[in-house]
Amino acid sequence: MLECINNQHLSLNSDLYPSFYIFQFLLKGGIIHFIFGQISAILYCIVKQYIYALSSTLSMYLGPPLPIKLATAKTRFGASMDKIRITKTTTPKVKPDYSNLGFGKYFTDHMFLMDYASDKGWYDPRIVPYGPISLDPSAMVLHYAQETFEGMKAYYSPEGKVLLFRPWDNFDRLNSSHNRLCIPPIDPDFALEALKTLLRVDIDWMPKEDGTSMYIRPFVIATEPHLGVRTSNNYIFCIILSPVAAYYPEGMAPVKIYVEDEDVRAVRGGTGEAKVGGNYAGTIRAQNKAQEMGFTQVLWLDGVHRKYIEEVGTMNVFFVIDGVVVTPSLSGSILPGITRRSCLEILRARNIPCEERMISVDELRTALESGKVSEAFGSGTAAVISPIGSLTFGDKTYEINGGQTGPISQELYDEITGIQWGKRDDSFGWSVEV
Ligand SMILES: Cc1ncc(COP(=O)(O)O)c(C=O)c1O
Repeated sequence: MLECINNQHLSLNSDLYPSFYIFQFLLKGGIIHFIFGQISAILYCIVKQYIYALSSTLSMYLGPPLPIKLATAKTRFGASMDKIRITKTTTPKVKPDYSNLGFGKYFTDHMFLMDYASDKGWYDPRIVPYGPISLDPSAMVLHYAQETFEGMKAYYSPEGKVLLFRPWDNFDRLNSSHNRLCIPPIDPDFALEALKTLLRVDIDWMPKEDGTSMYIRPFVIATEPHLGVRTSNNYIFCIILSPVAAYYPEGMAPVKIYVEDEDVRAVRGGTGEAKVGGNYAGTIRAQNKAQEMGFTQVLWLDGVHRKYIEEVGTMNVFFVIDGVVVTPSLSGSILPGITRRSCLEILRARNIPCEERMISVDELRTALESGKVSEAFGSGTAAVISPIGSLTFGDKTYEINGGQTGPISQELYDEITGIQWGKRDDSFGWSVEV
């Protein structure tokens, strides 16, 4: 070999060619490696089968086999599947006046809690009397806003069933938000079970009046006492319930919207597409300014060019331009709303033309000026559909559909709320009974 390497005129004879030696060496090594690999795989299977058979036999005498016990202690999501402990309140609250519930003012008698520690995973799921959560003043959530939340509702159907609307989507989105904020995921099956259990415990708080519902707020906070910016090692997952009034006691009311051109809600690469508390504090200034000027909410533009339309207030936004329903595509800074998805799925099921794409302010203004915008509306859990009666850019206001609710907005509202309250056929399979 050395001789060959020193030889400037290497023969093409394969016996002497250095790379051929390497090839032969690898080939032999590879074959030996392969044989050893096969033997160890066979041995592994035999041992595994043996352990499984042994644990199954033992389970006949001692309970479930060992692997199942391990799986239930810590699921693939790291969520504890322990039984939910229930401690009922001994001092139930006096219920509020259900004809004047408002939004987010009253809370039921109980809440769900579950802890997380990095060495244990999620553990100790429990339902306890509703009350303050004790936090160390240095709890990381209070300083760096490592917090996620969801917003969903439970509805009473005319047959007395309690229905949830697409709850899987909420828990999936919660986990997407967790991924963005480096919070460990929660098993959606378990979260749903926890929510159903809590709703059953507080069933007598479920409002039954027309249009009323139980607002559900799951949230997760970083509780480790520490002042460095890094991932927390401890969290609390909590679910609270709040009976809420009908959003539109007197029918849908179109709102006046101001196009915000100073503050922005989110940028791509930020946290705009996650549902995290930190996204909302920065929106209050623009909201206050708009309200002082007599508007209900603001239309958010993209954070880089301030040119493309993103959302309206805390809702996704739709426009009907030239007969086509258009909504901004999920660019990375827009929250993927569950109501938005439901609207799109209904429109597509009915062959109503709809598009998800970027919409520039210029395109929208031109369409408004030429009378091509026949409807505009926001979509979100709280209102479901919120028709936009007018849009104001600086000092120029454009009225939409004469300030009235349009037919597409109305039908989407009727279809979604019909399914939510169990009054229309749930052909999409979105309702989940508690
Ligand atoms: C910023 C933002 N966009 C959109 C939505 C609508 O989402 P969903 O339809 O899931 O309620 C919400 C509602 O919570 C929101 O906070």
